[in-house]
Amino acid sequence: MSKNWIWITGADGHVGSALKKLLPGNGYHLLCTNQTDVDVTHAADVQLYADMNRPVAIINCAALSNPALCEQNPEQAYNVNALGARNLAVAANRVGACLIQMSTDDVFGNQGTTPYNEFDPMPVPNSIYGKSKLAGERYVSYLCARHIIIRSSWVYGTGSDFVDTFLRAGDELKVANNEIAVPTSAKELAKVILSLLGSSNYGTYHAVCTGGPVTRYEYAEMLKKLTGKDIHLVPVLGDGSERPSYSVLDNMMLRISGMEEPKDWKEALSEFLTECGFHPTL
Ligand SMILES: NC(=O)c1ccc[n+]([C@@H]2O[C@H](COP(=O)([O-])OP(=O)(O)OC[C@H]3O[C@@H](n4cnc5c(N)ncnc54)[C@H](OP(=O)(O)O)[C@@H]3O)[C@@H](O)[C@H]2O)c1
Repeated sequence: MSKNWIWITGADGHVGSALKKLLPGNGYHLLCTNQTDVDVTHAADVQLYADMNRPVAIINCAALSNPALCEQNPEQAYNVNALGARNLAVAANRVGACLIQMSTDDVFGNQGTTPYNEFDPMPVPNSIYGKSKLAGERYVSYLCARHIIIRSSWVYGTGSDFVDTFLRAGDELKVANNEIAVPTSAKELAKVILSLLGSSNYGTYHAVCTGGPVTRYEYAEMLKKLTGKDIHLVPVLGDGSERPSYSVLDNMMLRISGMEEPKDWKEALSEFLTECGFHPTL
């Protein structure tokens, strides 16, 4: 098999879809699988697929990424987010592939008040989503020699997310004004993945848009401004059980590695809305 085959799991989600647009034009050949093709919780299937295709890298975008669903189905959350990552780590290590494991700001709990960098003490998540994703990170770092973990936050793109919720909302939308993080487009995140692919800059990276942080309410206000949508935003208090109230990531590893950080969150959002057919002005 060619040197440049990359296996993307969970390829139909936000990040997988952005990678499918970006990577082919940059010399990579893709093996894209969804849950029907290869369920990452089935260790033997994961191993067989890796043995047959021998990718040089695996980008694990498969996840149970909805925090509320994770609270309702904790066993499924741990199965996909932790054991799925374990299965891919074992398979990647066996075929000598680099595993790029996608992770989240939700691995940090409610304890912080200043931006987290990659060298901050190991986080203590509150939610099932955060705990299961942190367990996945640990399996990857123990079991796969060549690994890169990328944490991001408030990712939007193709699929169900906060931008989609805003665009589909009627006259009124209740929005938490006590959740603080950085909105990040799947496209900007895919660019960071591209810059790390094929490098030997192993380790954990934070990759969020610059220009933040914002409250979710401020994020909604920017969406209102950029789309011109006539909607009444109602500030509410989130209870912090599913999402941390403060989960601001600092891209320190990108900076000290001399790598480009994602663009300003407002510009990335404006670009995305333009692609959706809006005519935003910042
Ligand atoms: N979205 C965010 O705000 C955000 C923020 C930070 C980090 N992340 C992380 O970034 C990564 C990608 O997130 P995303 O937003 O692209 O997620 P997403 O849109 O929910 O996509 C996840 C994909 O994984 C698939 N999947 C679920 N269970 C699977 C299984 N057992 N085997 C194989 N595939 C399975 C899903 O397929 P079905 O739809 O068919 O179930 C879906 O296509 C995840 O690791 C996530 O934790 C996301």
